[in-house]
Amino acid sequence: MMDAGRHPRIQLLVNSEVEDITGFVGNYRAAVRQHAQYVDASECTSCGDCGDVCPVVVPDEYQQGFSSRRAIYLPFPQAVPASYYLDADNCLGFNPIACGKCFEACEKKCIDFDVRDEVLDLEVGAVIVATGMEPYDPRPYDEYGYTRFENVITSMEFERLICAGGPTAGELKRPTDGAIPQRIGFIQCVGSRSPNRGVPYCSNICCMNTVKQTLQIAEHYPESQQKVFYIDIRAFGKGFEDMYRRSREEGVDYVRGLPGSVEEDPQTRDLVIHVENTLTGKREEHRLDMLVLATGLVPRKLNGSGTRSVDEILSLSHTSDGFLMEAHPKLKPVDAPTRGVYFAGCAEAPKDVKDSVTQAGAAASRAGNLLGAGQVRIEAITARLVEDLCAQCKICANVCPFNAVVEANKKQSIYPDFIEAACAGCGTCAAECPFDAIVMRHFEDAQITAQIDAILADDAMSKIVAFACNWCSYAGGDTAGTSRLQYPPAIRLIRTMCSGRVDQKFIWHAFEQGAPMVLVSGCHFSDCHYIDAVTWTQRRVEKVWTQMEKLGIRPERLQLEWISAAEGQKFARVMRELDIMLRSISEQEVAETVEILKKKRPGAPKIVAPTAQPLASAPA
Ligand code: FES
Repeated sequence: MMDAGRHPRIQLLVNSEVEDITGFVGNYRAAVRQHAQYVDASECTSCGDCGDVCPVVVPDEYQQGFSSRRAIYLPFPQAVPASYYLDADNCLGFNPIACGKCFEACEKKCIDFDVRDEVLDLEVGAVIVATGMEPYDPRPYDEYGYTRFENVITSMEFERLICAGGPTAGELKRPTDGAIPQRIGFIQCVGSRSPNRGVPYCSNICCMNTVKQTLQIAEHYPESQQKVFYIDIRAFGKGFEDMYRRSREEGVDYVRGLPGSVEEDPQTRDLVIHVENTLTGKREEHRLDMLVLATGLVPRKLNGSGTRSVDEILSLSHTSDGFLMEAHPKLKPVDAPTRGVYFAGCAEAPKDVKDSVTQAGAAASRAGNLLGAGQVRIEAITARLVEDLCAQCKICANVCPFNAVVEANKKQSIYPDFIEAACAGCGTCAAECPFDAIVMRHFEDAQITAQIDAILADDAMSKIVAFACNWCSYAGGDTAGTSRLQYPPAIRLIRTMCSGRVDQKFIWHAFEQGAPMVLVSGCHFSDCHYIDAVTWTQRRVEKVWTQMEKLGIRPERLQLEWISAAEGQKFARVMRELDIMLRSISEQEVAETVEILKKKRPGAPKIVAPTAQPLASAPA
């Protein structure tokens, strides 16, 4: 942080919030609200005279409330910039009659109560989202007594107590009486791996954080007794198994099993832990002086004081656990699906310092490469507008998850502008356009209908036409294949980049050509690589189901399934189920469907596209 603060080409905007970002890769424009800094950081020498006279005392958040601070204070010893910060919510100084003491005490006159927020307009080529995470709030785990017993603390609170810069100058003291605890326990997985009360995922850092803390205690207080209650210890990573072994060698007692209850002995104030040791199968009781809850990590709530959060502003999607979703988990782990946006740290997933630093370096170099190149290489799967067919209905602009379709400069064109650098090629615009005015390169209508025709050219009754998105369902089929899972050969896959590309006319075309069954499959909702494109798939399929019902076609003949790349088992199961369903469809039923669709094929545009206007006559 110090290096960043001193770097001539890094501008640190502290106490600032991003309010809006517009534009596209290489050409972003960010509106950043810089909240009023009442202390001039360039002049402040951190002498502390202001804090000494401030009459306001509030709990110090940095010290987890174990000590207090003033309304003007140094946030923490290594703060950058190293200047005092005025907490406007608690300061009395805005009414000089009430206070203003810090202003008088400051010899360098760094304090100014009249400064106001400023909104900066910045041109940026790339954005790195490093919004971090939050520790899990253990209050739902009432049986551990966090809200009832003072000597039950969280691992974050323990960090402050054992830190040399903490409220006790590094001395581990019990909150109730300030005595040094001799018997200390740790409960693992508080909030993690618990879908019912906490979060379903492993928070990644808690095991090794506890191991580190046991070693710290063993070093400072060799006489202490330590117990760790755990499900299993996850010590993967360089040197971690060795640390875990050392912790055991130091005499730390690892008890496999999570406690059922924690009580406090009113006489001795001992914490009494009841636990079933799952290795011995016996119930045990342990008496402790202090208990540390190893709380997990949860995604940060990104809403600041503005109305829109960073993920909304940048159209970022989330994985099912609430963290931000990367463009590809293996090949583009630091890239957001929106080009020119990168992730660093726990915004993307829980990770430790080493992994966060690695990802931050990767994100910085990805952004550096992008800016250094000076031009953007795009994949040849983007959308192209056929102006002669466009009715300027703006549906494409409304459905594009990447805001790649914008209103053109009216003086030059009446048609929407497709920003190729921003287009990711999901095909949702093409599927939603009622006038077929959008061509998806390499996934053109003619190419997809040709595949349908080829599949159904012979023995159509034994085939299921299946549209599978590139990232999940198609990859799920691959996983089923590489895992050698058996499934019936009736399925014929047509790959699209996203299920959002599956136009309803492809489904009707398949039925018209005698398909007994059609499957549309894509990623689970939170996994779609094109943000919310999958929601348009669902709406579209629901619309087709309604129309099928009206036409007297059994809606079950069109199936919609969400299958992820890892779900090879599910892929094979769905295919088996579809095959059973396929056998219930008679040739007569299929022939009737063909007849119905010949007479009335749904999906034709309701509005007639106007004849294209020559540019010269476009409205100014
Ligand atoms: Fe799979 Fe959108 S990428 S459904």
